Amino acid sequence: MTIALIPGSFDPFHNGHLEVVERATRLFDSVVVAALRNPQKSQALFDLDERREMMAESMAHLPTVSIVSVSTLLVEVAHDVGATAIVKGLRAVSDFESELQMAQMNRSLSGVETLFIPTSSSHSFIASRLLREVARYGGDVAPFVPPAVLRRLREKFEGEEL
Ligand code: PNS
Repeated sequence: MTIALIPGSFDPFHNGHLEVVERATRLFDSVVVAALRNPQKSQALFDLDERREMMAESMAHLPTVSIVSVSTLLVEVAHDVGATAIVKGLRAVSDFESELQMAQMNRSLSGVETLFIPTSSSHSFIASRLLREVARYGGDVAPFVPPAVLRRLREKFEGEEL
C-alpha cells in the first residue's frame, strides 16, 4: 500500500493545493494531507483546527484522502502514518530552493523521499499569503479557493477595521 504525505501550512488551503492532492490520489493508494506549523511564517490567520475543518470539507469528495493537523516535526508525521513519500507542489523555480532544502533535511532525518508535482500554470500564481491579503481588503478570491474556505475567509474579515 502506497501512502503519500502532503504537508503544508494551508493558511488557507486553496485550489492549487487541491490540484496537487487530486493528482496524488491517482498515484498513491492513499493520501494524508497534514496541516503543520511553519515556524518561518509569523502569525497564522487560521488555527490548525480551523484549517483541518476547511480542508476536510474541501476534500470530502476524495475517499482516499485523510487529514491531520499537528504541531510537530514533519518526519514524525511521516513515520506515524507510514508514508511512502512526502509530496509537494512546485509553482515556480522560486519555490524550488526552499523545497529542495526541506526535502534534503527531511531525507537526512528520516530517509523519506520527497517527490514534487508541478502545478498547472493556471494555479501557479496562487499563494495563501496573497489570498489572505486580497480577502482582507475585500477582493474577490472565489476563483481561487474551495467554497468552504471562501466562507471562512468572509466570516473572518466581516466587519473588520482595515
Ligand atoms: O506550506 P509551507 O509553509 O511551505 O509548508 C512548510 C511546512 C509546514 C511543510 C514546514 O514548515 C514543516 O515541515 N513544518 C513542520 C516542522 C518541521 O518539520 N520543520 C522542519 C522542516 S525541514
